[in-house]
Amino acid sequence: MARDPMGTYSGLARRYGDAVRVPFGRERAFFLLSRPEHAERVLVANQDNYVKAFTYRPLRAVLGDGLLTSEGDTWRRRRRLVQPVFSQRHVVGFAPQMVEAAVEGVERWPDGVTLDAAGELRKLTLDIVGRALFGSGLAGEARRTGRALEALQRGAVIGTFLPGVLAKRGVYRRVPGLGGALAHLDAMVQRVVEGADGGELLNLLKERGELDAEELRDEVLTLLLAGHETTAASLAWTLMLLSRYPAARERLEDEVDGVLGGRKPKAEDVDRLPWTKAVLSEAMRLYPPAWTIERDAVGDDDVAGVPVPAGATIAVPPYLIHRNADVWPNPEGFQPERFMGEQQRHRYAYLPFGGGRRICVGAGFAMLETTLVLAAISRTHRLDLVPGVTVPSRAEITYRPAGAVPMRVSRR
Ligand code: HEM
Repeated sequence: MARDPMGTYSGLARRYGDAVRVPFGRERAFFLLSRPEHAERVLVANQDNYVKAFTYRPLRAVLGDGLLTSEGDTWRRRRRLVQPVFSQRHVVGFAPQMVEAAVEGVERWPDGVTLDAAGELRKLTLDIVGRALFGSGLAGEARRTGRALEALQRGAVIGTFLPGVLAKRGVYRRVPGLGGALAHLDAMVQRVVEGADGGELLNLLKERGELDAEELRDEVLTLLLAGHETTAASLAWTLMLLSRYPAARERLEDEVDGVLGGRKPKAEDVDRLPWTKAVLSEAMRLYPPAWTIERDAVGDDDVAGVPVPAGATIAVPPYLIHRNADVWPNPEGFQPERFMGEQQRHRYAYLPFGGGRRICVGAGFAMLETTLVLAAISRTHRLDLVPGVTVPSRAEITYRPAGAVPMRVSRR
C-alpha cells in the first residue's frame, strides 16, 4: 500500500468486489467501498459520524490546521471565513485574471517546439491562484514548488504507514529532502503574505484579525497547494486525452471557435461551451486528481449494508466509484457524451470534488478556471503527445502524470 496505494486499491476491488474489509494492523479495520451509495452515506447522509481519516495526518503535518485538514470549530470558523470568496457569483470576478494568465502563458509557446505540458500547466495554475486569490504572480515559483510537492507527497504516503513518525512538522523538517521542500513552501508563503497587494482573499484573512501568523501561514499554504496542484493535473490529463482522441478535440476546437470567434474567452462564455466542459468532466471521471477520500468512523455505522465499527477507516475513492461498471457502462472508455444533456445516474456516482459539508470549497473556481484555460489554449494552440512516449502516472495525495509530459505544440 505504501508503494502503490492506487494499484493496491484497484487490485483489491477487482478481486473482492466493491465492499472490501482489509485487515490492517491489529486494532484497525480498513474498508474499501466503491459504490455511490457508500460515498453518500459516509460523506453526506451520516457525515456527523465521520472525521478525516488518519491517512490525512502527514498532510496535516505539512498544511497544519488549514481548511483542508482541520476539524470541528476551527474548520467551521475557517470555512465561514473563506467560503464567500468562492461563491459562484463571486468567482466569476476572477475570470479576467484566469484568462490573462493563460493567454500570457500560452503566447510564450513557440510553434513546433516540444514542451513539458505538465510543468507548463503547473506554472499556469499556480500563477492563477497566486494572482486571483493573493495578488502575487507565482509563475516563477512553479518549478521549485513542483519539486517540493513531489518530495512531500512521497513522504506523506510513506509517513501514513509509520504512525507518529511523520505526523509532526518538526520531524518532517529533519528528513533529508523534505526539510528543504517545506522551507521552500514556507518562504513562498512568506513572500505572498508580505506582498504589497494581498489580493482579495489574503486581505480578508488578514483584516478579520482572527488568525495568528501560523494560522495565516497554514491557510495560505492550503489554498495555494489545494488550489493549483489539482487543476494542473486535471488539465494535463485532459490535454493527453484530447491528443489521443482527435474527434473529441476537433469538436472542442469547433465549439471554441464558434463561441469565441477568435477573441479571448470570458466568464459568460462558459455556459456556451458544453462540450469543452464535458471533456473536462470526463477526464476527471477517468483521472480524478483527488483520487481517494478517506474518513475514520466515530461510532458504529451501517454503510449501505456494510456494518462498520467505531474507529474503522473507510475509503470511498472517486477513482474506483468512477470506474464501477455497475454505474458506468464501458467504464474505461473516454466518452464526454456522458456529460452532455440530462444525466440519469446516482448523485454520488461522480464525485471529483467530494460531497457533504467538506466538499471542495474551490469546485466552482476550478471548473471556471479549467474551462477558461482549456478554451484559451485551444483557441490558438494544439498539443500532441510525442509519439512513442508513454507517460507513467503517480497516485499519492493527488493523481497526476509522473514527471514530464512531452507534447509538441502547433499553432492553429
Ligand atoms: C480540479 C480541481 C480540484 C479537485 C479535483 C478538488 C478536489 C477536492 C476534494 C475531493 C476535496 C474534498 C476532500 C475530502 O473530503 O477529504 C477538496 C477539498 C478542498 N479543496 Fe479542492 N479540488 C480542486 C480544486 C480546488 C481549488 C481551485 C481550490 C482553491 C482555490 C481548492 C481548495 C480546497 C479546499 C480548501 C478544500 C477543503 C474544504 C473543506 O474541508 O472545507 N480545491 N477538493
